Amino acid sequence: MFISTVSLISSNVPHLSSALNGIRLSLHVLAAAVWVGGQIVLAGLVPKVRKVSPEVLSAIANQFAKMAWPAFVVLVLTGLWNASAIDFSATSWAWKVVFIIKLVLVVVTGLASFLHTKAKSKKLIAAWGSVAGTSAIAVLVLGIFITG
Ligand code: HEM
Repeated sequence: MFISTVSLISSNVPHLSSALNGIRLSLHVLAAAVWVGGQIVLAGLVPKVRKVSPEVLSAIANQFAKMAWPAFVVLVLTGLWNASAIDFSATSWAWKVVFIIKLVLVVVTGLASFLHTKAKSKKLIAAWGSVAGTSAIAVLVLGIFITG
């Protein structure tokens, strides 16, 4: 009985999350979809909008910002909730390194997005936008690697 329980835990048998874990991760992933997916979709739309109707570009960007920043706040809050549910003493050094890199990149994507909204020149707007988007994708990928 003991041996079969141990082999069940150590093998890759899928199991249902508890309701609370499901809510916590769903909120985190939903907010990541808005923050990361929104930036990717916006980057894809911008060239077309600029061609067809350049005057609405800033209205679209401002409206996206109104959704993206609350999503970022939800990411940080649910991220802290995720972290509180982890037994750090049981994690490997590699897991800790990946987690720390993820946290650094969270700061990078937040800061780059802020600077992107404040930049005046086209070059800087593009540069900060691509740093924000690339680091956001990296945070998402690292998040998947650290998920237990
Ligand atoms: C831009 C911000 C962020 C993005 C895009 C992001 C994205 C993700 C994604 C996609 C996952 C995988 C979820 C899954 O596979 O179920 C994840 C997991 C995780 N994230 Fe984040 N995250 C962000 C910010 C944060 C912050 C600020 C923290 C901590 C303060 C954090 C802590 C965690 C932890 C601990 C996990 C693993 C959860 C578990 O295994 O239960 N995240 N993140």
